[in-house]
Amino acid sequence: MDRNEELAVGRRLLGHIDGRTTDLADSLFRNRVIAYSSRERANLERDRLFRDLPIFMGLSARLAKPGDYVTEDVAGMPVLMTRGADGSVKAFANICRHRGAPVADGCGNARAFTCPYHGWTYDLAGKLLGTTDKVGFAGVDLASHGLVRLPAAERHGMLFVRPKPVQPGEGPELDIDAGLGPIAADLAALQLDTYPMFSTDRVAPRINWKFAVDTFLEVYHVPHLHRKTIGPYFIGNVGTFDGAGLNGRMCVARTSIDAVRGLPETERNYRPHVISIYQLFPNTILIFQVDHIEIWRAFPGRDDPGRCEVEMTIYRPAETDKPDSYWEKNRDIAIRTVMEEDFPLGERMQIGFESGATEEVLYGRNEPSLVHFHSSIRNALGVAA
Ligand code: FES
Ligand SMILES: [Fe+2]
Repeated sequence: MDRNEELAVGRRLLGHIDGRTTDLADSLFRNRVIAYSSRERANLERDRLFRDLPIFMGLSARLAKPGDYVTEDVAGMPVLMTRGADGSVKAFANICRHRGAPVADGCGNARAFTCPYHGWTYDLAGKLLGTTDKVGFAGVDLASHGLVRLPAAERHGMLFVRPKPVQPGEGPELDIDAGLGPIAADLAALQLDTYPMFSTDRVAPRINWKFAVDTFLEVYHVPHLHRKTIGPYFIGNVGTFDGAGLNGRMCVARTSIDAVRGLPETERNYRPHVISIYQLFPNTILIFQVDHIEIWRAFPGRDDPGRCEVEMTIYRPAETDKPDSYWEKNRDIAIRTVMEEDFPLGERMQIGFESGATEEVLYGRNEPSLVHFHSSIRNALGVAA
């Protein structure tokens, strides 16, 4: 965010700390527990959220150089994303046009992709370069058997893909700014394209993917659940929240924020004391930490609403005098807090949701990010409850 916005958020946080208040949602929100456990709901979410909307794929550093590629299953869509020789980013269904094998695996740098099954080759723009049996496939037109294109975009240092093929009459470019709304300027100011990737960790907790997102959308639980880890460093149950379409931004204060009070406002630097948590709908949480970026992405499990896959990536600044051990420590704290405290509790909550004993969960007015997230889901799904 820019300097004026940083000062405004700082003022709001100090006001809340002094008044023992926090930003409030308009009203308390009741959600049915089947939102976390029903297969019908999971299918609707896959179609409306994970096929129709742009999905965040990482910062630009994930495809740093021409020829870099990544593959990933995005809620059941095998995705191949490439950076071409011209620097542009493109995405495809990672499905060979012969008999469907994935043409690329993992991530790396390549000039072309050779399908592991029978050796057909494709270039970085998805064009079929050749089959390996000219007689058997005589008459197959190479030009119309390229990889199926998925709309993609690189914007403000972020990569996006829409995991549904380009439709007739549609271009392969995604319009990202329209969906980001006022958050676009905020994210542009973060210069996300300058951050190299430091680490990636993946887990598959037995929780619904939305619970993995919920974890980051309130600090009400921090002094309780995290009292032995990050609790002492944060002011619990205090935050600002600003919605931007389906997305949102929550800012929370570290206990060190008191240090700014002795300074005139124009000299205050909130950066070491305020954490900004961007919710990129539907499944990404981008946390602007004091000196690095931590990103969490949650994906629904393929057959079970009670399972998900979660990825945490840490991006550190390009210019830093801190040794790798410092970033390793940050990674470790994030893992211990979320993967060893939030998710294990969440697994027990998921069992409770699936037991049928309760019908709803409540998000309080003091949890405006949660209220916004679940209202946005209802809007995007077109359901009333
Ligand atoms: S499935 Fe790819 S070459 Fe046969
Ligand atoms: Fe937590």
